[in-house]
Amino acid sequence: MNLTVIGTGYVGLVTGTCFSEMGNIVTCIDIDKIKIENLKKGIIPIYEPGLEAMVSKNVENKSLLFSTTLKDGLSKAEIVFIAVGTPMGDDGSADLQYVLSVAEQLGQEMERPLVIVDKSTVPVGTADKVKEVIQRELDKRGSDIEFHVVSNPEFLKEGAALQDFMKPDRVVIGAEHTEAFDLMKDLYAPFTHNHDRMITMDVRSAEMTKYVANAMLATKISFMNEVANICELVGADVNQVRIGIGSDTRIGYSFIYPGSGYGGSCFPKDVKALKKIAEEKGYNAKLISSVEKVNDRQKLVIANKVVKRFGEDLSGKTFAIWGLAFKPETDDMREAPAIYIIKDLVKRGALIKAYDPKAMNEAKDHYLKGIDGVSYYNSKYETLQNADAMLLLTEWKEFRSPDFGELESQMKNAIIFDGRNQYGNLNLEKKGFEYYQIGKRSVYN
Ligand SMILES: NC(=O)c1ccc[n+]([C@@H]2O[C@H](COP(=O)([O-])OP(=O)(O)OC[C@H]3O[C@@H](n4cnc5c(N)ncnc54)[C@H](O)[C@@H]3O)[C@@H](O)[C@H]2O)c1
Repeated sequence: MNLTVIGTGYVGLVTGTCFSEMGNIVTCIDIDKIKIENLKKGIIPIYEPGLEAMVSKNVENKSLLFSTTLKDGLSKAEIVFIAVGTPMGDDGSADLQYVLSVAEQLGQEMERPLVIVDKSTVPVGTADKVKEVIQRELDKRGSDIEFHVVSNPEFLKEGAALQDFMKPDRVVIGAEHTEAFDLMKDLYAPFTHNHDRMITMDVRSAEMTKYVANAMLATKISFMNEVANICELVGADVNQVRIGIGSDTRIGYSFIYPGSGYGGSCFPKDVKALKKIAEEKGYNAKLISSVEKVNDRQKLVIANKVVKRFGEDLSGKTFAIWGLAFKPETDDMREAPAIYIIKDLVKRGALIKAYDPKAMNEAKDHYLKGIDGVSYYNSKYETLQNADAMLLLTEWKEFRSPDFGELESQMKNAIIFDGRNQYGNLNLEKKGFEYYQIGKRSVYN
């Protein structure tokens, strides 16, 4: 099939690349000229395992094309995906300006019948708005080109995006017409060929499904973080409690790890947007509001432990930080707990020596830009010299079994604050470290 993907960010680039990998001809469009120029040269704007090789291969095959001009993608396309950002607006709702501006442009420039797919995460009723805007523009042109608007929310996880897209747990398609369902089923058939993972439904339910999936996962995280904080107070070990409850198949083991709270481009904004969707209908979504409040508090649990250990005034103290990205295998730092923790420590006068395998440019250029007192190192061990303590903030594999002798010899004090999801017992206390975790009372306090 001939496809166009509008918006070449995390989702658009992965979507376009995976569809081209299956033999479709895909044009990826973006308004960011530098991004498109770089992609044409094989320079990938994000870190995502396996993506660079797959993009290069399909660019070489001429099945993956990049352009800043929408017209280039419209002359032959049968299906157009809208994959632009839907960031958090000032009032917490999803900002639809990019989606609706694409809809307007589509109405002005489409040349042939199209199935238009909302891949971006959008509030219930957005497909209707997209339809209205396109129809309005077609009417202005006196055109009667036929089109259908479909909802096909994306469930990929950053860090495992290719795998998730190529072997999805499910493909949710919300549509009104058999014709649109059939075309989408044909498109996704190669991804779901060993058993049917296509879930078809009405458009509004598909739009809602994405928010509910993210809110459910965020709820599990906040629930476990709340439990972790209570465990600490009563002298229980949340990691043992986690194993104890996970063995119940109704609960399960996945997504019940405590840590420094959820971050990333999706959970924070989607939880807020769902709360807002309810609010607009006069419903106070109390549980969802609490999920958010618990998460805001959780981001600073590790910083609070540092303050409890070293005092409110951290002038003259140096902290090594291992991990900046909001999770491993990505360079994404959107809403990463590390941002909040580092800003809190720096505000109290601390110096930070930071290392992350992939996210240091994001930190320097965007999320920690202009913050005095933060320096970056190319190796994790270089951050340790004269450090008063080390903070572990992202679950990168290379942090799981570090050289503890090196840690002890370089640091001023053998003190570790672990803000990651837990990885069992490293026996750090036995190795002579003062070790602070989330959800387990330390012998030191
Ligand atoms: N990142 C994820 O893990 C993930 C997962 C599932 C769903 N989503 C959803 O997918 C959507 C996109 O997220 P993302 O993380 O890929 O965003 P992103 O910010 O990485 O990318 C969005 C891209 O759209 C481009 N853009 C904006 N307006 C445009 C226009 N008029 N024409 C062409 N390009 C335009 C931007 O330049 C940018 O490159 C969001 O709604 C998000 O909630 C994201």
